[in-house]
Amino acid sequence: MTLAVIGGTGFSAFAGLENLQDHRIDTQFGEAELQSGSLAGTQILFLPRHGMPARKLPHEINYRANLMALKQQGATRVLAVTAVGTVDPNLGVPVLVVPDQIIDYTYGRAMTIYEQSLHHIDFSEPYDVELRAQVLSAVSTVQEQRPEMRVSPTGVYGCTQGPRLETAAEIRRLARDGCTIVGMTAMPEAALAKELELPYAGLSVTVNPGAGLTTADITLAAIEAAMEKGLGWVVAVLTVLLQQEGVDTLA
Ligand code: HPA
Repeated sequence: MTLAVIGGTGFSAFAGLENLQDHRIDTQFGEAELQSGSLAGTQILFLPRHGMPARKLPHEINYRANLMALKQQGATRVLAVTAVGTVDPNLGVPVLVVPDQIIDYTYGRAMTIYEQSLHHIDFSEPYDVELRAQVLSAVSTVQEQRPEMRVSPTGVYGCTQGPRLETAAEIRRLARDGCTIVGMTAMPEAALAKELELPYAGLSVTVNPGAGLTTADITLAAIEAAMEKGLGWVVAVLTVLLQQEGVDTLA
């Protein structure tokens, strides 16, 4: 059982990982860079999707190479960490969201590993139900120790193309569609994980109110500051998740 963590904005280095090793992995879709290391005594993989250092824009990321590389390196499940904006005006910043649905607004991205054959994967549940349940259980445990951690146990992730942020009208449309958070990287990542039969769950940190929900400018500096706080929560959840798995393995 190897957990792979995909890091997003503000999470391109995993400070708590021990015995860190860099890997460059060749795949049929190109090269991917990732790291292995141990957290809570367990070996995991870490792949910062924007690169090391973070330079790749959401539409420039080679999602296929990334997911294929994780599969080749023995990942058996993937936890995708993302920084997101809020769409639901009742969600604050920062809040840890465990999304359960996705609406895809991206275009022109390489979205399937099947180039020569016809495949229609069942994507009714873009996030793995079992892995999500484990994540939620880890979140509850962390919340007992950190009551200040704000959590939304569900979320509809609207994935926009970027790299620009949305207009206020676009955020209002996302809300009408049923989205509660907005980011730029869940797709095609989640669909590729499904194609590769890699159970995939998300941990999203709200880092800014969506366009039109605040009068303040949305700046990268403010986003990174919010992410830093959320990241402490994310690492705590990952640590508990791995410890719970240790217990499961022994049972
Ligand atoms: N919109 C889209 N993606 C994002 C945002 C946002 O407001 N914040 C962080 N990622």
